[in-house]
Amino acid sequence: MKTTLSVIKADVGGFPGHSDVHPKLIEEAKKHLQKAVNDKLLIDFHVTHCGDDLELIMTHTKGENCKEIHKLSWDTFVACTKIAKELKLYGAGQDLLKDTFSGNVKGAGPGVAEMEFEERKSDPVVVFMADKTEPGAWNRALYEMFADPFNTAGLVIDPEMHDGFIFEMHDVIEHKKIEFKMPEEAYSMLAFIGTPGRYVIKSVRRKSDREIGAVASTQRLSLIAGKYVGKDDPVLIVRCQHGLPALGEVLNPFAFPYLVAGWMRGSHNGPLMPCAVKDATPARFDGPPRVIGIGFQIANGKLIGPRDLLADISFDLARQKANEIADYMKRHGPFEPHRLPMEDLEYTTMPHLMEKFKARMKPLTEKD
Ligand code: F6R
Ligand code: MG
Ligand code: MG
Repeated sequence: MKTTLSVIKADVGGFPGHSDVHPKLIEEAKKHLQKAVNDKLLIDFHVTHCGDDLELIMTHTKGENCKEIHKLSWDTFVACTKIAKELKLYGAGQDLLKDTFSGNVKGAGPGVAEMEFEERKSDPVVVFMADKTEPGAWNRALYEMFADPFNTAGLVIDPEMHDGFIFEMHDVIEHKKIEFKMPEEAYSMLAFIGTPGRYVIKSVRRKSDREIGAVASTQRLSLIAGKYVGKDDPVLIVRCQHGLPALGEVLNPFAFPYLVAGWMRGSHNGPLMPCAVKDATPARFDGPPRVIGIGFQIANGKLIGPRDLLADISFDLARQKANEIADYMKRHGPFEPHRLPMEDLEYTTMPHLMEKFKARMKPLTEKD
């Protein structure tokens, strides 16, 4: 029997502003997913939130891109939107970009990461969720987990990992994909994924047998909608241990609060702060961006857990560092590199200003 782990998320209303999810939405989502367990569509589920994003973590045997599972998620988000509207929560239904469900939630607003696998004797997984940033925010962490021996000792000393991994990368602007082999094509891949707004790692497989190691959501709302409709706030599933990076190797990249795009108005660079689920409530300047990581053992499709992994005290220094970096970056105000470069701004007054000052903009002459 193959198990599918589906993580599907959407921001269907924040409380207050864009900081958190109202408990009533979590309650409603649980009710829907429990019914799906009773109806034998799901094996198990866990509902949580990261900032203003409602996160549905589900197990079943129906494979990836299953219409019934996607419809269940869509209907759950629609039901939660109804409550969000009653409570006048902020941005109620903001990630549901289509009026009706058309077979798959991809391209309709929600973020999706799904992974189907044959359960090993023991299968630890971590579900990472982020708020106030974009899917490319996982690029650096995934590279470290699966390709950097300074992070992952197993790449050097575990014979099962020694051959390396295959990374699938998406160009989310041109809608193209490519596979890179690690470690031999590391320099080439880094040249792309260092531009995380465009080149996004979708999945990682072990080279020797193509066993799946990680899958990320790559939906970019603004590219779907063609205008600013909120940040993409991505999710990531990583399988651990026994020929894949150990749990601690999977968590270690988040001990460095590297800069990501997002934060206030999706238009600022800020540190990615690892935190406990209870602290995933972006506040200062709608941030700084947060990442949570919860761990499960998968047992015949049952989710044994969760354990709140980034709550651990070993991430205390990273949190402090993130606050220091947030302070430093914020003081740049409207200046780059705190504010994103003009082409990356999610919403901008520039076209309006260009128009307004067009007549006053004179060509430079030799005397200038
Ligand atoms: C970022 C985000 C928030 C909002 C900001 C302004 O992803 O969602 O930072 O962009 O609070 O929101 P509006 O324009 O709705 O007032
Ligand atoms: Mg929001
Ligand atoms: Mg969000």
